[in-house]
Amino acid sequence: MFKLNSKETRLVVLQIIELINSTIKRVRKLFGRYIFSNIVSRFFLNKIDIGKSYYNNMNSEYRTLEKYIDPQHKNLLSIGGGLGGLELIINEKFDVKSFNFIERNYVSKKVKYGWDNKNNEAYNDLILQKNFLIKNGMQPSKFNIFDYDHDQLPNAKFDIVISLFSLDYHYDFSIYLEYLKKTTDHNSIIIFDTIRPEYFKNIFKSVNLIDIRNQTVHKSTRVACSRFLF
Ligand SMILES: C[S@@+](CC[C@H](N)C(=O)[O-])C[C@H]1O[C@@H](n2cnc3c(N)ncnc32)[C@H](O)[C@@H]1O
Repeated sequence: MFKLNSKETRLVVLQIIELINSTIKRVRKLFGRYIFSNIVSRFFLNKIDIGKSYYNNMNSEYRTLEKYIDPQHKNLLSIGGGLGGLELIINEKFDVKSFNFIERNYVSKKVKYGWDNKNNEAYNDLILQKNFLIKNGMQPSKFNIFDYDHDQLPNAKFDIVISLFSLDYHYDFSIYLEYLKKTTDHNSIIIFDTIRPEYFKNIFKSVNLIDIRNQTVHKSTRVACSRFLF
């Protein structure tokens, strides 16, 4: 299980609604998301239970993509990784040397889940993310967190890029297109959840469909892509 404090518990539940059970989902419906997240959730969420279900959830996500991770992958980029539970699991199993997280440092007032044309939605707190990663075993020297809205994004070559339920699930891939062309090469692999897998056959030479979800906020397909076509 992951160790979570109360603030991290409330945050991770915003990032992954599947972590709460159906009774709590009903309470959330009753109060509305904003009041629930800021007030009511303090009394309803159990950090031990959420710590367990967050670990289990990330572990099953990990299993969908583990065979695409190569022991040679040393430099990983995570886009919209939330608190970073998946990356903690990858860190346990592989010898990745550097984890680079691009995330955002605010929680939208009216958290709504779905496609976000303007990419205004965010649910993270970068101090909480940093503390969470360290507390759960990632060495501080192994990772960097970049604020999408305020920092210069890392200028490196990434062997593997992972973005679950974020890039092309909530907002358009084009936001990162030029950046990813610059920071990956022919051997890099980019894994993300998209609502339009076919479209990526015009963007990448190789597009593998690795998992299909019908139960999430909207239907999505997890793809592992490599080699930009142009
Ligand atoms: C639904 S959560 C997914 C979290 C995590 N990947 C998971 O599967 O548990 C989407 C995340 O994308 C982040 N996000 C939104 N816009 C972003 C952007 N332009 N760049 C990086 N992250 C972004 C949000 O802050 C949020 O943490």
